Amino acid sequence: MTNAAYIPEALADVPRASWPRHIAIIMDGNGRWARSRGLPRIEGHRRGAESVRCVTEECAKLGLKQLTLFAFSSENWRRPRDEVNALMDLYRKFLIEQRPTILKNHVRFVPIGRRDDIPAEVLAEADRTVELSAKATGLTLCLAVNYGSRGEIADAARSLATRAARGELDPATIDEETFASALNTAGMPDPDLLIRTAGEMRLSNFLLWQLSYAELWVTPRLWPEFRQPDLHAAMRDFAGRERRFGGLEPATNA
Ligand code: IPE
Ligand code: IPE
Ligand code: MG
Repeated sequence: MTNAAYIPEALADVPRASWPRHIAIIMDGNGRWARSRGLPRIEGHRRGAESVRCVTEECAKLGLKQLTLFAFSSENWRRPRDEVNALMDLYRKFLIEQRPTILKNHVRFVPIGRRDDIPAEVLAEADRTVELSAKATGLTLCLAVNYGSRGEIADAARSLATRAARGELDPATIDEETFASALNTAGMPDPDLLIRTAGEMRLSNFLLWQLSYAELWVTPRLWPEFRQPDLHAAMRDFAGRERRFGGLEPATNA
């Protein structure tokens, strides 16, 4: 359910038509947050889960269409085994603890990324949340776990090639739309705004295809400290951007 009446003070003078409809976030800086406090890295991830909860709830209240969060990359397996295990366990706990709130707020949960190597007990909780929230008509919460954009693009190419080899698909008909429909994000709008926390100016293999025309917003704020005012600031900034999509006239965000 979108709450059209909710407009926070910080966005009071920003017309709704210029708000982003789909926000994607590279949630970074959990480790740095913990280190600066002399805490183990996992404490940063725990606090980061709290930011996920706050930001998701706010996006649902604002009536946005989609929030896509980068939670674990296909490269993050390179981290120490203990940290990877702790992250997977945190994801499982998040799914269990947040399920009632997700359902209450009419959020539709859609994970993306490869299922391979994700522990079965984590997949079971994710599948259950997907199933229970499938008919929700509010915010779509897309969580990227074991996700890497190059892998996704290679998988899409392979699946299209397989269909072509079987004679089910004429290669001459493969266009951008066909290709997009073979990605994990099939049917989803492209993000309008990409937020990255903790100051890094890179994409780290996130949604390379889908972010082609997204507006980028990088903040030094570390993810565990990212709260509603930061989200509003990013949205305000986005509303002031001139999106041209290669043309000369500013395009509307509608
Ligand atoms: C983001 O925080 C969480 C994940 C990538 C899983 P980091 O763990 O990357 O934090 P930093 O970059 O070390 O500060
Ligand atoms: C990107 O953060 C991945 C996620 C936020 C899940 P990283 O911390 O893994 O990115 P790099 O290694 O600094 O590029
Ligand atoms: Mg990092």
